[in-house]
Amino acid sequence: MAIERTLSIIKPDATRRNLTGKIVAMFEEAGLRVVASKRIHLTPAQAGQFYAVHKERPFYGELVEQMSAEPVVVQVLEGEGAIAKNREVMGATNPAQADEGTIRKAFALSVGENSVHGSDAPETAKEEIAFFFAGIELVG
Ligand code: CMP
Repeated sequence: MAIERTLSIIKPDATRRNLTGKIVAMFEEAGLRVVASKRIHLTPAQAGQFYAVHKERPFYGELVEQMSAEPVVVQVLEGEGAIAKNREVMGATNPAQADEGTIRKAFALSVGENSVHGSDAPETAKEEIAFFFAGIELVG
């Protein structure tokens, strides 16, 4: 399988509870490497732009509010099949459906406050990485 890069966000519900290190450890244990990382506080406009694809969904307003409420940690994860592997480690969007051993099973509070975000396909991974990182910040 090819080496890929994917975007990961550790969301405010997790940074607030001081879970950043535990979550990063789960990525690393799964064979993913953190090749870029920063802690930032999104404005509502930035969160809205990032999630623009969900603009018409009923949960959009709450999602933007939650994502801009407190800091997030944005990261680029690299590894073999990183996009699918990251989604496997995260678990299902709704923690009630997440498998044992996944981040969302362990830490998510609800479908909205679900601790982590991960790109869902190669094209979105490329776009989402470029949303947060300049090429010079991807140090490998
Ligand atoms: P994420 O993987 O970041 O992508 C979109 C986010 O919208 C999702 O995780 C959840 O945080 C949030 N969300 C809130 N309600 C829903 C819902 N009913 N279905 C999907 N996503 C939801």
